[in-house]
Amino acid sequence: MSILVAPSILSANFLELQKDILMLNKSNADWIHVDVMDGIFVPNISFGFPIIKSLSEIAEKPLDVHLMIEKPDTYIERFVQNGASMISIHYEASPHLHRSIQLIKNLGCKAGVVLNPHTSVSVLEEILPELDYVLLMSVNPGFGGQKFIPQTIKKIQKLKKMILQMNLTTLIEVDGGINLNNVAEVVNAGADVVVAGSAVFNSENPEKIIDGLKM
Ligand code: DX5
Ligand code: ZN
Repeated sequence: MSILVAPSILSANFLELQKDILMLNKSNADWIHVDVMDGIFVPNISFGFPIIKSLSEIAEKPLDVHLMIEKPDTYIERFVQNGASMISIHYEASPHLHRSIQLIKNLGCKAGVVLNPHTSVSVLEEILPELDYVLLMSVNPGFGGQKFIPQTIKKIQKLKKMILQMNLTTLIEVDGGINLNNVAEVVNAGADVVVAGSAVFNSENPEKIIDGLKM
């Protein structure tokens, strides 16, 4: 399988979001990564339901919603109603992770768990068979445009080994600081999906960067 690319609209031009979504529709991007921040779980606030609903009306690719929020369970149903195709919740914000994952799946969405940089992939051992994907943070969540944390490479390798040993098809998505210079290392370590915000949207030619990331 070739690498999937999920541009993060956190770095899009919010005054011309429609233009950026139409660009992604005709690009080779696979998913549209949507970063939701509540100002409590992470020290930043991004956007919520009305924006996601509007995006879903024109987006021709699945909305990959990354919830950086406390108590995600409270809002999962509304994210589904507003157009999410896949929802990932943070391990660090989910005391009843198994229940939360079942909730996402029962609502017809793909379900993922996100790990912060300091959280070991070993905490996923029991839940892994339930997951469609794991999102590994390669920066501390909250902001676009940060530097890739090199230790992530070992985490990707370790998680890939777990997935293969358990004979699963769980995808590994990696998020933060990915660009044309480090994508090969991330993919070679075992990533199936890469998120890229600033690398795509701060470029003169976003479609070309998306193609470059697909390698
Ligand atoms: C960070 C977000 C990322 C971010 C990636 O909290 O989860 O998805 O938008 O942006 P870049 O690619 O610029 O690191
Ligand atoms: Zn994200």
